[in-house]
Amino acid sequence: GTAQAPRAPVWFCVAAMKTLIKNATVILPAGRADVSVVIEDDHIADIDAAIQLPVDRVVDASGLYLIPGLIDDQVHFREPGLTHKEDLAHASRACAKGGVTTFLEMPNTKPNTVSVESLASKLELASSRSLVNFGFYIGATPGNIEELKAAERTPGIKIFIGSSTGDLLVDDQDALERIFDETTLPITAHCEDEATVRANQERYAGTTDVRDHSRIRDHEAAIVCTRRALDLAFRHNHRFHVLHVSTGAETDLFADHRGLITAEACPHHLFFHVGDYDRLGSLVQMNPSIKDVEDNRQIWQALLDGRIQVIATDHAPHTLEEKQLPYPQSPSGLPAVENVLALMLDQVHQEQCSLEQVVQWMCEAPARVWDVVGKGRIAVGYDADLVLVDLQREQEVRNEQQETKCGWSPWHGERLTGWAVQTWVMGHEVYRDGQFDLSQSGQEAVFDHSRGGYWKTADH
Ligand code: DOR
Repeated sequence: GTAQAPRAPVWFCVAAMKTLIKNATVILPAGRADVSVVIEDDHIADIDAAIQLPVDRVVDASGLYLIPGLIDDQVHFREPGLTHKEDLAHASRACAKGGVTTFLEMPNTKPNTVSVESLASKLELASSRSLVNFGFYIGATPGNIEELKAAERTPGIKIFIGSSTGDLLVDDQDALERIFDETTLPITAHCEDEATVRANQERYAGTTDVRDHSRIRDHEAAIVCTRRALDLAFRHNHRFHVLHVSTGAETDLFADHRGLITAEACPHHLFFHVGDYDRLGSLVQMNPSIKDVEDNRQIWQALLDGRIQVIATDHAPHTLEEKQLPYPQSPSGLPAVENVLALMLDQVHQEQCSLEQVVQWMCEAPARVWDVVGKGRIAVGYDADLVLVDLQREQEVRNEQQETKCGWSPWHGERLTGWAVQTWVMGHEVYRDGQFDLSQSGQEAVFDHSRGGYWKTADH
């Protein structure tokens, strides 16, 4: 036989890189603490007050707060097929800058993600193009139940029970019953009642006034559909997450969650209301539509008292040209991934909530809802997805500074206090003070659905 080549001495290269983050106030599951955190390779290796290790790098984070990376469980990143609006490279840079270290993306791309095969090809695409960690939902159609049953490597099934951007829609009762009955993955849905919306569209036929968007996609449409979805979840004993709650009345339904139901709020339903159409026009045209000041208040209240558990963005970029088409040709959706943390830190600054609550809503809760392994908290052994934030930093949102490919923000011109300054993804520093390190990609998030979701993981 042939002689074997001697093994190369590779141990120099595989020695783990160690970073010590010191002097930060760290938001731990039990509350804030002045401790040091050691990142080794891709995970958190140590958390202690006085770590004395030889490390490769020391980050002096005096005056800053260290939080877990955000998990945004509802984004539309448009790749493949709609990349004139957005793509994985731009959107994931926006994430890194905004402190979002993991995104879960919706299936209404082109083609729609409605098969095991299209899911695998999106994962493959993201593994080389995304700067941050990623996961992808599989979309339901009236006829793809076998795909929904076979799907793995996904947070869950997305159903458009009411139609929105794209052509995904399942509103036939028998088809919905089958999906809730025969599948085991967690289910999430866009809830706006299709029949109500269509009837309202006829009522407002011919309108070019974007303010009618909130009259067409009205309170009733949201409430009727959310009620219908909860009924399906309860009868089939199926975990269900309500996306982008837009009305105060829906929040009343969530008190009776029966260990199955979780819900989510988006920044536009917290901070925009119908009065903003005058100023922002179709830039704040969204599905579900923005509603009234009183809805903003009640959604905020539901977050504070735990009826809504998650904050996500529904980042849904369209080009300014598209948005400036006359209503109703103007598409629904707005970008938010890069400003959502600052919007919430600004609420901390205004003493509307605590930093610990922001971490609950944007890190811990989405990890629990979707059974994300190793993420959502700062703890030894967890992934080193970390964000340093400066709660004093005051900065204006500017269209020309947005990383999102669409290049605008509905919050343009707003001064916010509290911004991410440095972001690590799996131990790799991807963003620091306006600069990106694009040398490594993020990783596929791992979902362990045997955990059973939010209500079963109170003390994971
Ligand atoms: O306004 C919206 N835009 N709502 C959605 O549910 C979809 C999104 C999009 O993809 O543009």
